[in-house]
Amino acid sequence: MNISENMRDDVQEVLLTEERIKARVKELGQQLSKDYAGKHPIVVCVMKGAVNFFSDLVREIDCQLELEFMGISSYGNGVKTSGIIRISKDIDTSITNRHVIIVEDIIDSGLTLKHLLKLLEQREPASIKTVCLLDKPERRQCDINPDYSGFTIPNAFVIGYGLDYAGYYRNLKYVGILDPKVYEG
Ligand code: IMP
Repeated sequence: MNISENMRDDVQEVLLTEERIKARVKELGQQLSKDYAGKHPIVVCVMKGAVNFFSDLVREIDCQLELEFMGISSYGNGVKTSGIIRISKDIDTSITNRHVIIVEDIIDSGLTLKHLLKLLEQREPASIKTVCLLDKPERRQCDINPDYSGFTIPNAFVIGYGLDYAGYYRNLKYVGILDPKVYEG
């Protein structure tokens, strides 16, 4: 791994600017406000990648809701899925008969979300929907699609606005393509 001192030096291309993300998050929030009016949903943040998106999104949803956090990952320190899914933190409350919204950073192979949905559906929520900031449909390995999606992006490894490579770059304000020099050679 070959990371630069200035994290911006490792961005090959800015894919989504701070302004574009902000505008889209606002739109998603407006849509969810309509769809969940009077439903008092539980909004679940899938850590750590969704944390920035989640924090901005819930403040754009204008209805009564509760926040929950879940730790789940399918990646190690690489750029390809390991196929191994690990739950490091479960939600703290019962979701039985409640409306649940899962907030994810990115859907790539779809395996993480598939696993998570299976797990949470066993708890018999009233409904369960998924929101993801980014969707890479080209990489899908199963039949899972988000109910709400921020942006469809090409097949590239992206960082920033919560997304990491080996734990770094989550604090970038935009989403960019990681320069392969960081993980190659
Ligand atoms: P999936 O199970 O392959 O859909 O992968 C989902 C998880 O992999 C996401 O929640 C991210 O944490 C991670 N991931 C997938 N693609 C990227 C990427 O381009 N950059 C950073 N993390 C990614």
